[in-house]
Amino acid sequence: MSIILASTDFWEDMDVWSNSLRMAMPEMDINVYPDEGDINKVEYAVVWKHPKGILKKYPNLKAILSLGAGVDHIISDPDLPKGLPIIRLVDKKLTHEMCLHALHWVLHFHSDQYLYRIQQFNHEWNQKSSIQSEDRTIGIMGLGNIGKSIGDLLVNLDFKVIGWGARKKEALGLIDYSFGKDKLSSFLSRADILINVLPKTQNTANLLSKKELECLPKGSFIINIGRGGIIDESDLLILLDNNHIAAAALDVFTEEPLPENNSLWSHPSVYITPHIAGQSNPKSAAKTIAENIHNIQKGKLPYPIYSNENGY
Ligand code: GLV
Repeated sequence: MSIILASTDFWEDMDVWSNSLRMAMPEMDINVYPDEGDINKVEYAVVWKHPKGILKKYPNLKAILSLGAGVDHIISDPDLPKGLPIIRLVDKKLTHEMCLHALHWVLHFHSDQYLYRIQQFNHEWNQKSSIQSEDRTIGIMGLGNIGKSIGDLLVNLDFKVIGWGARKKEALGLIDYSFGKDKLSSFLSRADILINVLPKTQNTANLLSKKELECLPKGSFIINIGRGGIIDESDLLILLDNNHIAAAALDVFTEEPLPENNSLWSHPSVYITPHIAGQSNPKSAAKTIAENIHNIQKGKLPYPIYSNENGY
């Protein structure tokens, strides 16, 4: 019985990942693609942007596990073997990193850092009266594990937090939430800082174009750490140019890497990071992945399994 570990992302250190997985599952043979060993023995594939088409080579594959929270890199493989469970990574360290990244930009925008930086370049000393956190409403789109954790963190820092989800969910703790497209514009109209953590699915693709972005209050901010292809980038540029949106911190894009000629690169009110908001922690993720593999071996269900119907 063996595991194939595969990624095409240059920054994933496969030695670190394979060592962490070996520590968590000493009984397993772990091979890093393209060194796959006996293909008949491969029962689990642990992948992040694997070379498309390779997974159909393993006749005894039982499950595909993602090294990251999203599984779009798996389901976009046109040669994906049918009927196998695809398992997302819900890992507390990854969630923690996403929370810190979101918090960084919330505080940056909330405390007008984006403005004082520009003033510094112009040697200007203008004090803007600050807004109290309880008077600042943060809108979180996406109410899974990550969105909910960011929400709870911000509520505890005394921000007003509202949430929106494409599909109904129960028990969302501290967040004041709403669901469904008919509630989207009223949700947006209250969000001074909008944080998107939605995955890209049939329900969320192209969700925010000019009409929806215009629902945000004038002078609002956007933090996108979910997926690209949900916020229309050309429309976002229009609303940044006319100052309806004051600034945007973007970690994910419709096309990645962001093409050299994309105007977002040089917009003064845009902060770009190269999809680094929630990097998986190999030690902690390996334990979560091992737990899921052990559960499958014992005939128990791994968690969470990707649902074709929900799109995540
Ligand atoms: C990152 O985007 C992830 O899906 O973990």
